[in-house]
Amino acid sequence: MPSKKTLTILAIETSCDETAASVLRGNIAAKKPTFTTLSSVVRSQIKLHSKMGGVVPEAAARAHVKAIRPVVEKALNDAFPSLSTKHLALSTCIDLIAVTAGPGLPPALLVGVEFAKALSLGSGVPILPVNHMEGHLYSPFGESISNSQFSISKAGSNTKNQRTPIEFPILSMIVSGGHTLLVLQKNESHYQVLGSTVDDAAGEAFDKVARLLDLPYPGGPQISKLALESDEVIPFPRPMLDAPNYNFSFSGLKTAVLYHLQEISKQNTSKDKAKGSLNHYRFGDLPHATKASIARSFEEAVADVLVTKAMRAVKKYSCKTVSLSGGVAANRRLRATLSEQCAVNSVQFIVPDFKLCTDNAEMIAIAAYFKLRAGSKPVPYSKIKADSSWELRYC
Ligand code: KG4
Ligand code: ZN
Repeated sequence: MPSKKTLTILAIETSCDETAASVLRGNIAAKKPTFTTLSSVVRSQIKLHSKMGGVVPEAAARAHVKAIRPVVEKALNDAFPSLSTKHLALSTCIDLIAVTAGPGLPPALLVGVEFAKALSLGSGVPILPVNHMEGHLYSPFGESISNSQFSISKAGSNTKNQRTPIEFPILSMIVSGGHTLLVLQKNESHYQVLGSTVDDAAGEAFDKVARLLDLPYPGGPQISKLALESDEVIPFPRPMLDAPNYNFSFSGLKTAVLYHLQEISKQNTSKDKAKGSLNHYRFGDLPHATKASIARSFEEAVADVLVTKAMRAVKKYSCKTVSLSGGVAANRRLRATLSEQCAVNSVQFIVPDFKLCTDNAEMIAIAAYFKLRAGSKPVPYSKIKADSSWELRYC
């Protein structure tokens, strides 16, 4: 890798829902993080998955194979409009390829990792594998710009709008389809996982409850929309709320929703009384208002547990900032509840824009930038492998 301090990073990500690429330029030696996102392209597979009623791994991998070249070309074209990417030698404009190597859907990860390796082989540009959850962890810094000392800016955005600097330690909550993590970020480069889910992730629970209500994939945004239509609150349980740790459990909450649905469908004229595993139950025939109150109450129970445990950790570790990221961070109730509690406890709250909450490659480029600042080096070609269960622990 060149010894220069301002580096241009091409990030590639193939998650279960999207094929994405982004280009970021940043000074890794600057006292305060200083970077600019030059491009970010996301090609969603959500239409494909909703047609099939969920993610079919082979179909997802095929879609990545089809999309990856045009997506990477578009990211390069958007970043360098005056260059012809057709015959572009990658090494003339890119110093490092960052690729999501895990965790995630194995056949999807493989496409991104092998594509990145082929690019590296052909161009000589080195690779840095990035953990997908580290992408989420650093994603709120991408938005902090316009609002912090971090001098983090988007090309063409108004950087005059300075706000309060981000202060460490940060209590970071990452809530996605596969993970629910509470992470203590001690400083820009060191973090420690405090707790995680012992069964279903928060997003997974949203998706499963949405299936019970016969809502289309992905369920989180559908539940969120439906929840806005109700004021009625059903007292669903708050699993592990009082457990003396920072772990979560959402499987029991989902089962409580199932039992509630079974109970009311007995009293109702609903025809949905399918038998079988939880996956086969559907209660789509229930009145709209009933479904809305279930969506609202479920969402409130999830937000309550997440926010209560996060604020407990904030107090214990004297955190000055709370950050929220991952697909479920797009949930307005969760954002609002956490933001309110942060205000009550006089801690700063940072959350990325909606487009940086769900999977994207910009967050992978941002994570790579912070890893380089912390001293990470590219990894030799032969050691780069997709690792679907790569866990975020501490750094
Ligand atoms: O981070 P992400 O895009 O992918 C993973 O890394 O898993 O998160 C996807 C998850 C899905 O479970 C989806 O239903 C959930 O985020 N999600 C939401 C909302 N938008 C997406 N959950 C609740 N409310 C939302 N508005
Ligand atoms: Zn994700």
